[in-house]
Amino acid sequence: MISLDLHSALDFVNESVYRNSVEDAFKAFDILHDGTGAGNDFLGWVDLPSHYDRALVEKMEELAKRWKNEVETIVVIGIGGSYLGAKCAVEALSGAFHARAKEGYPNIVFAGQNICEDYLGELLDYLKEKNFSLVVISKSGTTTEPAIAFRLLRELLERKCGAGAAKRIVAITDAHKGALRKMAEENGFETFIVPDNVGGRYSVLTPVGLLPIALGGFDIRGMLDGAAEMERICSAKDEKNPALLYAAIRNALYRSGKKIEILVNYNPRLNYFSEWWKQLFGESEGKQGKGIFPASVSFTTDLHSMGQYIQEGEKIIFETTVLVEKSGKEIVVRAESNNEDGLNYLAGKRIGFINSMAQMGTMLAHCEGGVPNITFKVERIDEYNLGSLFYLFESACGISGYTLGVNPFDQPGVEAYKRNMFALLGKPGYEKASEELRKRI
Ligand code: PA5
Repeated sequence: MISLDLHSALDFVNESVYRNSVEDAFKAFDILHDGTGAGNDFLGWVDLPSHYDRALVEKMEELAKRWKNEVETIVVIGIGGSYLGAKCAVEALSGAFHARAKEGYPNIVFAGQNICEDYLGELLDYLKEKNFSLVVISKSGTTTEPAIAFRLLRELLERKCGAGAAKRIVAITDAHKGALRKMAEENGFETFIVPDNVGGRYSVLTPVGLLPIALGGFDIRGMLDGAAEMERICSAKDEKNPALLYAAIRNALYRSGKKIEILVNYNPRLNYFSEWWKQLFGESEGKQGKGIFPASVSFTTDLHSMGQYIQEGEKIIFETTVLVEKSGKEIVVRAESNNEDGLNYLAGKRIGFINSMAQMGTMLAHCEGGVPNITFKVERIDEYNLGSLFYLFESACGISGYTLGVNPFDQPGVEAYKRNMFALLGKPGYEKASEELRKRI
């Protein structure tokens, strides 16, 4: 179960600004659900959980069963929307100090999300003595970062396994086009398809996210069930719909001068959830000179670094907390006879309780400091609730983007750095741009 609490945010917006924003969110809801807005060819995610192809789920589970016994490490190669959903789920569902995502299953590691020589070099060293497989993910099939990582890792795999390497490579890509599709067909890699009508950052509930999650030993049916339940809740056009209300309040806050939204957690397992969320909202809304800047913190850790600015800096921030109500562990502080550290006032209290008091105290302090707070309460971190959260925020993002007046499903701004990088690297076809750029350096 996930609930939304707006009462520490509503005090910061004028009633009429909020009502206008709710009205606009209702119109945006219609645009999204009628498919009449910009980017309406990328709405495949809207009813994906309730219409999931069960045979596809079985195919993913079968591969997970096969590789469970064959390999000790799986490298998932991808960037942006072809990386963050799986990374977020694996981090959220794994223990902090375990060598493997889940006992008895291969370790899941990631590549292709950067072009860092140290990172890639360390990964190649790590894999030298390992029995490993590759899952390469790229919807376009032409993205430079994963393509470079795939070339390097495939070379290593082929050196280790010879002709058997092809059986250790799975590609997730477009059904027909792109260099990766061509390579998969020519070399006999098993493939999964990224649906045409689902953009990268909305693709976590397609094989892009689900396959790596299944390979790590996690319950993708539970995740889809949670998403399907949230799809049902978010398809209601009323003021109980958490996606619609969240879209409305964040636009009302934006219209009231709050330009930065910080996603807050009190559980470091959710750190990569924040990264996934930042991509979703940042890439969907930051365009045409508009959009809330999405940032994130993990408390109480970051209260000792970012807390000062949030409390007393510019009043352009609001916070959205994802609060996990139940912990998977129970740890109680014991009394000590000499009370050397002065902590006996906490004796008998659970660590989770202390964390929740820190959360309450922080929220009250930040509200006093002029920082509105929105809270999502999640019962516990598991596959079901993660699926629900994924769907909830995707739906909210679609509605919020249309409320803001942008196309939430394109990302034209991402191309600028690529053009320059290709020109500087001397990619054929970029000669003129290269000449112009070099004059500016
Ligand atoms: O959300 C998006 O569309 C992007 O972040 C892409 O997912 C990212 O650029 C990777 O693209 P591709 O899957 O084509 O390699």
